[in-house]
Amino acid sequence: MLRIFLWIQAFVQVLSVVTLAPPQNIHVNKWQLTWTHASEKEDVSYTVQYRSFDTSVWKDVQACVQTFSTSCNVTSTKAESEHGCVMLRVRAERQGLTSKPVKACSRHGDSCTPEVSLTARPGSLTVFLSGNNSMALEYADHAKHRVYYGKEGESLQKYEDALYSVSIPGLEEGQRYCIRVQYMLYDKPVGPESCTQCEVIPGSEYERQQTAIITAVVVVVVVLILIPAIAYILIFQRGRIKKCLQPPCKIPDNFLLEPFPEHHILSSTSSPSEERYDVITAME
Ligand SMILES: *[C@@H]1O[C@H](CO)[C@@H](O)[C@H](O)[C@H]1NC(C)=O
Ligand SMILES: *[C@@H]1O[C@H](CO)[C@@H](O)[C@H](O)[C@H]1NC(C)=O
Repeated sequence: MLRIFLWIQAFVQVLSVVTLAPPQNIHVNKWQLTWTHASEKEDVSYTVQYRSFDTSVWKDVQACVQTFSTSCNVTSTKAESEHGCVMLRVRAERQGLTSKPVKACSRHGDSCTPEVSLTARPGSLTVFLSGNNSMALEYADHAKHRVYYGKEGESLQKYEDALYSVSIPGLEEGQRYCIRVQYMLYDKPVGPESCTQCEVIPGSEYERQQTAIITAVVVVVVVLILIPAIAYILIFQRGRIKKCLQPPCKIPDNFLLEPFPEHHILSSTSSPSEERYDVITAME
């Protein structure tokens, strides 16, 4: 009997986690945490928890236990961690049911969250990170960025550690990939993650389209500018072209008109008394 009771209790606990929708859009900005309701129900309360860098235990933020508000001033947690950075999460509660907790992210870089920007190239994603952040300035190589990445909809399990910007190669073209970045100190996570950012990886298809567009533009330029220019030159500047094309030296009038044999030309054009005549005769 007791066993069945315990079993039912365990089942209800599992069910409670499964059935209550967690809060959404949990963002932290300058120690102000905000989120949105996950369901229409009015009697849903929220509990905010924090975890500092040197422990794996989540503690309640005292001001925001079972609050009906959708925001929480978490300034008090600043004093709880050596660096003033804590991870934050929120869970929903209703009539003894508890949702799974969801971690907060930050859309803006600050001393606890990296500033991130993203560029997609064919087959890869480049994540721009600043090496000049307060974490790196204080802890040098002990502070890193952990870049989680994966296809949109997946849980972003894979990651790369980087001091500065990093390029993730070997991504499927045409697919949408997402990343989020967290500061790591001595290989432990510090502060809220950056909010997920996604980009579609352009394919070679995209490149081909770009090439086609550039080719079309070049063809149009040639048709609109070059061809009228050539036509103008041919029609109106014909005289000048002819003058330009005239050879610099004058060709003798009888050039190539005389029959071939050499002595014939010589005998007809030069006087027998010339020395050159003798030389050429000798060659014959
Ligand atoms: C949060 O609380 C701190 C003191 O605990 C206060 O100085 C600050 O103004 C509060 N922030 C907001 C947005 O209310
Ligand atoms: C690094 O950041 C600080 C402010 O956080 C700024 O004053 C400094 O000029 C930056 N240095 C470089 C090399 O960008």
